[in-house]
Amino acid sequence: MERNEARQLKRLAVLTSGGDAPGMNAAIRAVVRMAIFKNLEVVGVIGGLHGLIRKDFLPLQLGSVANIIQRGGTILKTGRSPEFHKAEYRELSYKNLKAENIDALICIGGDGTFRGAHLLSEEHPIAVVGVPGTIDNDIFGTDNSVGFDTAVNTALEAIDRIRDTAASHDRLFIIEVMGRSSGFIALSSGIAGGAESIFIPEYPVPLERTIEQIKRGAKRGKLSSILITAEGQKPGRAYDLAESIRKKSGLDAKVCILGHIQRGGSPTASDRILASRLGARAVECLIEGQNRIMIGTEGENLISVPLKDIFMQEKKSSKQLLELAQVLSI
Ligand code: F6P
Repeated sequence: MERNEARQLKRLAVLTSGGDAPGMNAAIRAVVRMAIFKNLEVVGVIGGLHGLIRKDFLPLQLGSVANIIQRGGTILKTGRSPEFHKAEYRELSYKNLKAENIDALICIGGDGTFRGAHLLSEEHPIAVVGVPGTIDNDIFGTDNSVGFDTAVNTALEAIDRIRDTAASHDRLFIIEVMGRSSGFIALSSGIAGGAESIFIPEYPVPLERTIEQIKRGAKRGKLSSILITAEGQKPGRAYDLAESIRKKSGLDAKVCILGHIQRGGSPTASDRILASRLGARAVECLIEGQNRIMIGTEGENLISVPLKDIFMQEKKSSKQLLELAQVLSI
Protein backbone atom coordinates (compact mmCIF):
# COMPACT_ATOMS: atom_id res chain seq x y z
CA MET A 1 0.00 0.00 0.00
CA GLU A 2 1.37 3.41 -0.94
CA ARG A 3 1.71 5.82 1.94
CA ASN A 4 0.74 9.45 1.85
CA GLU A 5 3.87 11.60 1.57
CA ALA A 6 1.88 14.77 2.24
CA ARG A 7 2.09 16.46 5.64
CA GLN A 8 -0.45 15.68 8.35
CA LEU A 9 -3.95 15.76 6.97
CA LYS A 10 -6.03 18.79 7.92
CA ARG A 11 -8.12 19.66 4.92
CA LEU A 12 -9.43 17.42 2.17
CA ALA A 13 -11.41 17.91 -1.00
CA VAL A 14 -14.10 15.71 -2.49
CA LEU A 15 -15.34 15.59 -6.06
CA THR A 16 -17.59 13.54 -8.32
CA SER A 17 -16.44 12.97 -11.89
CA GLY A 18 -17.46 11.05 -15.03
CA GLY A 19 -21.07 9.99 -15.52
CA ASP A 20 -23.27 10.67 -12.51
CA ALA A 21 -24.59 7.70 -10.59
CA PRO A 22 -27.41 7.43 -8.02
CA GLY A 23 -25.82 7.31 -4.57
CA MET A 24 -23.06 9.79 -5.31
CA ASN A 25 -24.77 12.24 -2.96
CA ALA A 26 -24.86 9.64 -0.21
CA ALA A 27 -21.11 9.14 -0.73
CA ILE A 28 -20.44 12.89 -0.55
CA ARG A 29 -22.48 13.06 2.64
CA ALA A 30 -20.50 10.22 4.18
CA VAL A 31 -17.18 11.86 3.27
CA VAL A 32 -18.21 15.20 4.73
CA ARG A 33 -19.72 13.79 7.91
CA MET A 34 -16.85 11.39 8.62
CA ALA A 35 -14.26 14.09 7.91
CA ILE A 36 -15.91 16.55 10.29
CA PHE A 37 -16.32 13.80 12.88
CA LYS A 38 -12.54 13.34 12.63
CA ASN A 39 -11.93 17.10 12.99
CA LEU A 40 -10.96 17.64 9.37
CA GLU A 41 -12.11 20.41 7.06
CA VAL A 42 -13.77 19.48 3.78
CA VAL A 43 -14.03 21.35 0.52
CA GLY A 44 -16.26 20.31 -2.39
CA VAL A 45 -14.90 20.62 -5.92
CA ILE A 46 -17.62 21.65 -8.35
CA GLY A 47 -17.79 19.91 -11.74
CA GLY A 48 -15.39 17.00 -11.32
CA LEU A 49 -11.70 17.05 -12.22
CA HIS A 50 -12.39 20.12 -14.32
CA GLY A 51 -13.33 22.00 -11.16
CA LEU A 52 -9.75 21.55 -9.96
CA ILE A 53 -8.48 23.34 -13.06
CA ARG A 54 -11.07 26.12 -12.68
CA LYS A 55 -10.47 26.31 -8.92
CA ASP A 56 -14.17 25.95 -8.33
CA PHE A 57 -14.16 25.09 -4.62
CA LEU A 58 -16.92 25.21 -2.03
CA PRO A 59 -16.30 24.71 1.71
CA LEU A 60 -18.71 22.08 3.06
CA GLN A 61 -20.21 21.90 6.54
CA LEU A 62 -22.45 19.34 8.22
CA GLY A 63 -25.54 21.17 6.95
CA SER A 64 -24.24 21.31 3.36
CA VAL A 65 -25.03 17.63 2.99
CA ALA A 66 -28.33 17.57 4.86
CA ASN A 67 -31.28 16.07 3.01
CA ILE A 68 -29.26 14.69 0.07
CA ILE A 69 -28.94 11.00 0.91
CA GLN A 70 -32.11 10.23 -1.07
CA ARG A 71 -31.32 12.40 -4.08
CA GLY A 72 -30.02 11.15 -7.42
CA GLY A 73 -27.38 13.05 -9.41
CA THR A 74 -24.63 14.86 -7.55
CA ILE A 75 -24.81 18.16 -5.68
CA LEU A 76 -21.17 18.75 -6.66
CA LYS A 77 -21.98 18.42 -10.38
CA THR A 78 -19.86 16.25 -12.61
CA GLY A 79 -18.34 16.04 -16.06
CA ARG A 80 -15.56 14.58 -18.12
CA SER A 81 -12.35 16.60 -18.41
CA PRO A 82 -10.18 15.94 -21.49
CA GLU A 83 -7.85 18.75 -20.30
CA PHE A 84 -6.93 16.70 -17.26
CA HIS A 85 -5.03 14.32 -19.58
CA LYS A 86 -2.44 17.09 -19.98
CA ALA A 87 0.31 17.47 -17.35
CA GLU A 88 0.12 21.29 -17.44
CA TYR A 89 -3.51 21.23 -16.28
CA ARG A 90 -2.73 18.73 -13.55
CA GLU A 91 0.00 21.06 -12.35
CA LEU A 92 -2.44 23.95 -12.33
CA SER A 93 -4.88 21.77 -10.39
CA TYR A 94 -2.21 20.97 -7.83
CA LYS A 95 -1.37 24.67 -7.41
CA ASN A 96 -5.06 25.43 -6.92
CA LEU A 97 -5.34 22.75 -4.25
CA LYS A 98 -2.21 23.94 -2.46
CA ALA A 99 -3.42 27.54 -2.52
CA GLU A 100 -6.43 26.31 -0.52
CA ASN A 101 -4.23 24.23 1.82
CA ILE A 102 -5.83 21.01 0.63
CA ASP A 103 -3.68 17.93 1.27
CA ALA A 104 -5.84 15.15 -0.06
CA LEU A 105 -8.56 14.40 -2.56
CA ILE A 106 -11.40 11.89 -2.57
CA CYS A 107 -12.63 11.16 -6.08
CA ILE A 108 -16.00 9.52 -6.57
CA GLY A 109 -16.24 8.21 -10.12
CA GLY A 110 -15.09 5.57 -12.55
CA ASP A 111 -11.98 4.36 -14.27
CA GLY A 112 -11.32 7.60 -16.20
CA THR A 113 -11.61 9.67 -13.02
CA PHE A 114 -9.20 7.39 -11.19
CA ARG A 115 -6.62 7.50 -13.99
CA GLY A 116 -6.57 11.31 -13.85
CA ALA A 117 -6.39 11.37 -10.05
CA HIS A 118 -3.64 8.76 -10.03
CA LEU A 119 -1.47 10.85 -12.37
CA LEU A 120 -2.08 13.97 -10.27
CA SER A 121 -0.93 12.16 -7.16
CA GLU A 122 2.12 10.61 -8.84
CA GLU A 123 3.28 13.97 -10.14
CA HIS A 124 2.47 16.11 -7.09
CA PRO A 125 2.37 15.60 -3.32
CA ILE A 126 -1.37 15.20 -3.02
CA ALA A 127 -2.95 12.04 -1.62
CA VAL A 128 -5.87 10.54 -3.52
CA VAL A 129 -8.43 7.92 -2.64
CA GLY A 130 -11.09 6.71 -5.07
CA VAL A 131 -14.67 5.71 -4.37
CA PRO A 132 -16.16 3.62 -7.21
CA GLY A 133 -19.22 5.42 -8.55
CA THR A 134 -20.60 4.36 -11.92
CA ILE A 135 -23.80 2.68 -12.99
CA ASP A 136 -21.75 0.41 -15.29
CA ASN A 137 -20.09 -1.47 -12.39
CA ASP A 138 -17.10 -2.01 -14.68
CA ILE A 139 -14.26 -1.08 -12.32
CA PHE A 140 -11.78 -3.86 -11.72
CA GLY A 141 -11.00 -4.50 -8.05
CA THR A 142 -14.45 -4.05 -6.58
CA ASP A 143 -17.53 -6.25 -6.66
CA ASN A 144 -19.80 -3.24 -6.62
CA SER A 145 -19.89 0.40 -7.55
CA VAL A 146 -22.26 3.08 -6.32
CA GLY A 147 -25.23 3.50 -8.67
CA PHE A 148 -25.24 0.04 -10.22
CA ASP A 149 -28.01 -1.43 -8.09
CA THR A 150 -30.27 1.58 -8.71
CA ALA A 151 -29.63 1.49 -12.47
CA VAL A 152 -30.42 -2.23 -12.61
CA ASN A 153 -33.67 -1.66 -10.74
CA THR A 154 -34.61 1.25 -12.98
CA ALA A 155 -33.96 -0.89 -16.07
CA LEU A 156 -35.89 -3.78 -14.52
CA GLU A 157 -38.94 -1.62 -13.88
CA ALA A 158 -38.89 -0.58 -17.54
CA ILE A 159 -38.48 -4.21 -18.68
CA ASP A 160 -41.47 -5.30 -16.58
CA ARG A 161 -43.59 -2.53 -18.09
CA ILE A 162 -42.56 -3.40 -21.63
CA ARG A 163 -43.32 -7.05 -20.95
CA ASP A 164 -46.96 -6.08 -20.28
CA THR A 165 -47.37 -4.46 -23.67
CA ALA A 166 -45.24 -7.09 -25.44
CA ALA A 167 -47.46 -9.87 -24.08
CA SER A 168 -50.67 -8.01 -24.88
CA HIS A 169 -49.65 -7.49 -28.52
CA ASP A 170 -47.67 -10.72 -29.04
CA ARG A 171 -44.59 -8.69 -29.88
CA LEU A 172 -40.85 -9.10 -29.88
CA PHE A 173 -39.03 -6.25 -28.09
CA ILE A 174 -35.36 -5.35 -27.96
CA ILE A 175 -34.50 -3.21 -24.95
CA GLU A 176 -31.16 -1.43 -24.95
CA VAL A 177 -29.60 -0.65 -21.59
CA MET A 178 -26.44 1.27 -20.72
CA GLY A 179 -22.99 -0.26 -20.39
CA ARG A 180 -20.21 1.05 -22.59
CA SER A 181 -17.77 -1.82 -22.52
CA SER A 182 -19.45 -4.16 -20.10
CA GLY A 183 -22.70 -6.00 -19.78
CA PHE A 184 -23.34 -5.79 -16.05
CA ILE A 185 -26.59 -3.83 -16.28
CA ALA A 186 -27.80 -5.93 -19.23
CA LEU A 187 -27.02 -9.21 -17.51
CA SER A 188 -28.49 -8.33 -14.12
CA SER A 189 -31.63 -6.64 -15.44
CA GLY A 190 -31.98 -9.35 -18.10
CA ILE A 191 -31.84 -12.26 -15.70
CA ALA A 192 -34.10 -10.50 -13.19
CA GLY A 193 -36.53 -9.56 -15.96
CA GLY A 194 -36.63 -13.05 -17.48
CA ALA A 195 -35.23 -11.91 -20.84
CA GLU A 196 -35.22 -14.46 -23.66
CA SER A 197 -31.72 -13.38 -24.79
CA ILE A 198 -29.06 -11.04 -23.42
CA PHE A 199 -26.45 -9.48 -25.69
CA ILE A 200 -23.36 -8.20 -23.91
CA PRO A 201 -19.94 -7.10 -25.21
CA GLU A 202 -18.01 -9.69 -23.17
CA TYR A 203 -19.64 -12.86 -24.52
CA PRO A 204 -21.35 -12.53 -27.91
CA VAL A 205 -24.31 -14.82 -28.53
CA PRO A 206 -24.99 -15.90 -32.16
CA LEU A 207 -28.16 -14.28 -33.42
CA GLU A 208 -29.23 -17.54 -35.07
CA ARG A 209 -29.51 -19.14 -31.64
CA THR A 210 -31.86 -16.40 -30.44
CA ILE A 211 -33.97 -16.64 -33.60
CA GLU A 212 -34.23 -20.42 -33.22
CA GLN A 213 -35.30 -19.98 -29.62
CA ILE A 214 -38.02 -17.44 -30.54
CA LYS A 215 -39.34 -19.76 -33.26
CA ARG A 216 -39.35 -22.75 -30.90
CA GLY A 217 -41.26 -20.67 -28.38
CA ALA A 218 -43.80 -19.60 -31.01
CA LYS A 219 -44.51 -23.27 -31.85
CA ARG A 220 -45.60 -23.88 -28.28
CA GLY A 221 -47.69 -20.68 -28.20
CA LYS A 222 -45.19 -18.22 -26.73
CA LEU A 223 -45.74 -15.21 -28.90
CA SER A 224 -43.88 -12.41 -27.12
CA SER A 225 -40.22 -12.12 -26.23
CA ILE A 226 -37.87 -9.62 -24.61
CA LEU A 227 -34.26 -9.35 -25.74
CA ILE A 228 -31.86 -7.16 -23.77
CA THR A 229 -28.76 -5.62 -25.27
CA ALA A 230 -26.02 -3.53 -23.70
CA GLU A 231 -25.39 -0.40 -25.74
CA GLY A 232 -21.66 -1.22 -25.99
CA GLN A 233 -19.52 1.27 -27.84
CA LYS A 234 -22.41 2.18 -30.11
CA PRO A 235 -25.58 3.48 -28.48
CA GLY A 236 -28.51 2.64 -30.75
CA ARG A 237 -27.20 -0.81 -31.63
CA ALA A 238 -30.63 -2.23 -30.76
CA TYR A 239 -31.80 -0.87 -34.13
CA ASP A 240 -29.00 -2.77 -35.92
CA LEU A 241 -29.98 -5.87 -34.02
CA ALA A 242 -33.64 -5.47 -35.00
CA GLU A 243 -32.62 -5.06 -38.64
CA SER A 244 -30.42 -8.18 -38.56
CA ILE A 245 -33.22 -10.21 -36.98
CA ARG A 246 -35.64 -8.98 -39.63
CA LYS A 247 -33.24 -9.86 -42.46
CA LYS A 248 -32.38 -13.29 -41.06
CA SER A 249 -35.86 -14.36 -39.97
CA GLY A 250 -38.53 -11.96 -41.16
CA LEU A 251 -39.45 -11.28 -37.52
CA ASP A 252 -40.31 -7.70 -36.60
CA ALA A 253 -38.92 -6.31 -33.38
CA LYS A 254 -39.85 -3.15 -31.53
CA VAL A 255 -36.93 -1.23 -30.06
CA CYS A 256 -36.81 0.63 -26.76
CA ILE A 257 -33.63 2.46 -25.71
CA LEU A 258 -33.62 3.28 -22.01
CA GLY A 259 -30.64 5.65 -22.19
CA HIS A 260 -30.00 8.23 -19.49
CA ILE A 261 -33.20 7.36 -17.61
CA GLN A 262 -30.97 4.71 -16.01
CA ARG A 263 -28.64 7.32 -14.59
CA GLY A 264 -31.24 9.30 -12.65
CA GLY A 265 -33.52 8.69 -9.72
CA SER A 266 -33.39 8.14 -6.02
CA PRO A 267 -30.74 5.56 -5.02
CA THR A 268 -31.86 2.19 -3.67
CA ALA A 269 -31.23 1.33 -0.02
CA SER A 270 -28.39 -0.89 -1.13
CA ASP A 271 -26.66 1.94 -3.03
CA ARG A 272 -27.13 4.36 -0.12
CA ILE A 273 -25.56 1.91 2.31
CA LEU A 274 -22.71 1.09 -0.07
CA ALA A 275 -22.02 4.79 -0.71
CA SER A 276 -22.10 5.58 3.01
CA ARG A 277 -19.62 2.80 3.83
CA LEU A 278 -17.25 3.60 0.97
CA GLY A 279 -17.28 7.36 1.54
CA ALA A 280 -16.63 7.06 5.27
CA ARG A 281 -13.87 4.49 4.76
CA ALA A 282 -12.17 6.73 2.17
CA VAL A 283 -11.69 9.39 4.85
CA GLU A 284 -10.36 6.85 7.34
CA CYS A 285 -7.86 5.55 4.77
CA LEU A 286 -6.51 9.06 4.17
CA ILE A 287 -6.13 9.55 7.92
CA GLU A 288 -4.26 6.22 8.08
CA GLY A 289 -1.88 7.59 5.45
CA GLN A 290 -3.03 5.43 2.55
CA ASN A 291 -2.60 6.93 -0.89
CA ARG A 292 -3.41 6.12 -4.52
CA ILE A 293 -5.98 3.50 -3.61
CA MET A 294 -9.63 2.81 -4.30
CA ILE A 295 -11.98 1.53 -1.63
CA GLY A 296 -13.71 -1.49 -3.05
CA THR A 297 -15.94 -4.31 -1.88
CA GLU A 298 -15.16 -8.02 -1.76
CA GLY A 299 -18.21 -9.85 -0.62
CA GLU A 300 -19.37 -8.05 2.52
CA ASN A 301 -15.94 -6.55 3.23
CA LEU A 302 -14.39 -3.22 2.29
CA ILE A 303 -10.92 -3.46 0.78
CA SER A 304 -8.20 -1.03 -0.33
CA VAL A 305 -7.02 -1.64 -3.87
CA PRO A 306 -3.95 0.16 -5.30
CA LEU A 307 -5.15 2.34 -8.15
CA LYS A 308 -2.40 1.10 -10.46
CA ASP A 309 -3.74 -2.46 -10.13
CA ILE A 310 -7.22 -1.59 -11.26
CA PHE A 311 -6.00 -0.15 -14.56
CA MET A 312 -4.23 -3.37 -15.53
CA GLN A 313 -7.24 -5.62 -15.92
CA GLU A 314 -10.74 -5.45 -17.28
CA LYS A 315 -13.67 -6.46 -15.17
CA LYS A 316 -15.94 -8.90 -16.98
CA SER A 317 -19.47 -9.83 -16.10
CA SER A 318 -20.20 -13.41 -15.11
CA LYS A 319 -20.30 -16.00 -17.89
CA GLN A 320 -22.06 -18.42 -15.55
CA LEU A 321 -24.85 -15.92 -15.03
CA LEU A 322 -25.25 -15.51 -18.78
CA GLU A 323 -25.36 -19.29 -19.22
CA LEU A 324 -27.95 -19.53 -16.46
CA ALA A 325 -30.06 -16.87 -18.19
CA GLN A 326 -29.88 -18.93 -21.39
CA VAL A 327 -31.00 -22.12 -19.65
CA LEU A 328 -33.85 -20.40 -17.80
CA SER A 329 -35.20 -18.76 -20.94
CA ILE A 330 -35.18 -21.98 -22.98
O1 F6P B 1 -21.48 6.45 -16.73
C1 F6P B 1 -21.43 5.37 -17.56
C2 F6P B 1 -22.31 5.64 -18.75
O2 F6P B 1 -23.62 5.87 -18.32
C3 F6P B 1 -22.27 4.53 -19.77
O3 F6P B 1 -23.10 3.45 -19.47
C4 F6P B 1 -22.65 5.27 -21.01
O4 F6P B 1 -22.14 4.60 -22.14
C5 F6P B 1 -22.01 6.60 -20.82
O5 F6P B 1 -21.86 6.78 -19.43
C6 F6P B 1 -22.78 7.74 -21.41
O6 F6P B 1 -22.06 8.88 -21.24
P1 F6P B 1 -22.62 10.34 -21.49
O7 F6P B 1 -23.58 10.65 -20.40
O8 F6P B 1 -21.43 11.22 -21.45
O9 F6P B 1 -23.32 10.29 -22.80
